[in-house]
Amino acid sequence: MKSLVVYSSQSGHTKKLAEAVYESLPEEKEITPVEEAPDPKGYDFVAVGFWFKAGNPDPKSTEYLKKVRGTKLFLFATHGAAVGSDHVKKALETAKSLAQGANIVGSFDCQGEVNANLLEKVKARPNPPEWIGDADSAVGHPDGNDIKALKEVVKSILPH
Ligand SMILES: Cc1cc2nc3c(=O)[nH]c(=O)nc-3n(C[C@H](O)[C@H](O)[C@H](O)COP(=O)(O)O)c2cc1C
Repeated sequence: MKSLVVYSSQSGHTKKLAEAVYESLPEEKEITPVEEAPDPKGYDFVAVGFWFKAGNPDPKSTEYLKKVRGTKLFLFATHGAAVGSDHVKKALETAKSLAQGANIVGSFDCQGEVNANLLEKVKARPNPPEWIGDADSAVGHPDGNDIKALKEVVKSILPH
């Protein structure tokens, strides 16, 4: 099985998840930031990781997800919003629709601590987005439990 892990990460949280996905995969495998990612065709398994920006997968991942048609795909993501919130559900749906034509075999998402400068700025806005209310609970994430849960999900979808 030839696998490819592609990730976009500004502050390192999604990269952490990407490394955990990579570690969980059998040989032969590659890991790469989205900026250097190859054409996903020709890989038996592709994992794409993104962070949320303004309620959507970040722009670089958005572009890459348009190229994954025909692949066996695993999606993973970090976000400031609470797991299971409508905000998260909506952005994950957007990612899935961008990846139309891929065979999505699983996904994993967890909170990722929000950059302190951004948090301060967004909180000071007259109408801060609702997800910012969850940012306090994102502190310290992704943590060891998030990584453990992710590895279990990846192992469960691999051929036995
Ligand atoms: C400019 C910017 C916009 C963001 N917008 C959202 C958002 O709309 N929803 C959300 O849940 N988190 C949002 N976040 C939080 C990040 O998605 C979160 O901290 C993520 O873990 C960052 O991942 P990274 O470390 O891989 O870059 C935003 C962060 C930044 C810097």
